[in-house]
Amino acid sequence: MAGERTSTATGILGWFDQRLPVVDFWNKHVGQYYAPKNFNFWYYFGSLALLMLVNQIVTGIWLTMHYKPTEAEAFASVEYIMRDVPWGWLIRYMHSTGASFFFAVVYLHMFRALIYGSYQKPRELIWVLGMFIFLALMAEGFLGYVLPWGQMSFWGAQVIVSLFGAIPWIGPDLVIWIQGDFLPSDATLNRFFALHVIAMPLAILLLVVLHLAALHEVGSNNPDGVDIKKVKDASGKPLDGIPFHPYYTVKDMFGAGVLLCLFAAVIFFEPTFGGQFLEHDNFIEANPMVTPEQIKPVWYYTPYYAMLRAVPDKLMGVVVMGAATMIFFLLPWLDRSPVRSIRYRGPLTKAAISLFVISFLVLAVLGSRSGGGIAETWLARVCTFIYFSFFILMPIYTKMDRVKPVPERVTMHD
Ligand code: HEM
Repeated sequence: MAGERTSTATGILGWFDQRLPVVDFWNKHVGQYYAPKNFNFWYYFGSLALLMLVNQIVTGIWLTMHYKPTEAEAFASVEYIMRDVPWGWLIRYMHSTGASFFFAVVYLHMFRALIYGSYQKPRELIWVLGMFIFLALMAEGFLGYVLPWGQMSFWGAQVIVSLFGAIPWIGPDLVIWIQGDFLPSDATLNRFFALHVIAMPLAILLLVVLHLAALHEVGSNNPDGVDIKKVKDASGKPLDGIPFHPYYTVKDMFGAGVLLCLFAAVIFFEPTFGGQFLEHDNFIEANPMVTPEQIKPVWYYTPYYAMLRAVPDKLMGVVVMGAATMIFFLLPWLDRSPVRSIRYRGPLTKAAISLFVISFLVLAVLGSRSGGGIAETWLARVCTFIYFSFFILMPIYTKMDRVKPVPERVTMHD
């Protein structure tokens, strides 16, 4: 028997609703989900991340219909998709460009959380789940890049998998276990395919559902960092909230329209994005006997790759690179500021965030450049130092900082 229902739906919808509370679900999460009325530009990126996730899954399913996950056929099957499969080139470019757009959107989404303190209590779990999504996404991108079996697929896999070899005692055996061979090969490609098309997407989907469930449990933060549940009208609705539908469904559709225009522009005019989204070397079939002139990852991994290269010892490099991603998990507990939003924070926090962003961007550029002289190595070291200092010193500067008074209600200026 149905539990307590708020819906009075009749007809076909009523029939369904008595068996599965679809109307209640809609009301709870969309129609009567009250979101702060002051969402701005930065609040587009969550729904855009969802859009990109759907794009990756749909185009991925179509690619899988023609792709062959074997060492002998993989490269040719991608060429076949590009040349012979009707609209195959479009599906492939939507998927490869989609990966880069997905990362761009997710980085901006994370940046929003950083500037508005969205990870602070009570949203720590939303952030932690987001970090698991981020890690899964990084794994997913790497696994996918190996599949076309081009030169960068092979050598990228070789570099990344060999990092596990730096782990004391078990390292060398672990590398063979991961690859299923002594070098990236047919066995590696088979298992990476399985992980890329089924295991990781399932994990990401599950994590996204949990991420949104956790968000809807506590409610969204906003650019003022004000708790909208504090001031409610007589019927218990937050005075500073508006129903997600139609207000934010319309706003998000506009954002989706703009993003899709940019997406189409890249796909139709510059699908490899000058070798940034699809590297030129990956249009050459994998050859274990010829090392490409430069082995570097796609742009979204380059900040971490620059850190790896900046440390002379391989194991330490791996530790630093791993710590650089993992340290984000601690953000909710490192930030001791009594206010959330950057609008009401003091100069110390603003300076720290600015330095962090600059060091991250410089590392991204350095990681995408070949070799680099000693000056570049030192620059990468300085930026790595700033990167970690941002987190390690956070409990100190967020506590010391001068904060401005936070208003009772949200503000509507830009
Ligand atoms: C597949 C990737 C992701 C999807 C589809 C996704 C989706 C969403 C959506 C739809 C929202 C609500 C709308 C919004 O606030 O913009 C949201 C909020 C949030 N997400 Fe994500 N997200 C993803 C990844 C991440 C990552 C990697 C992080 C951080 C590590 C993160 C942290 C947050 C936080 C803290 C909020 C609450 C923001 C607030 O209330 O101000 N998300 N996410």
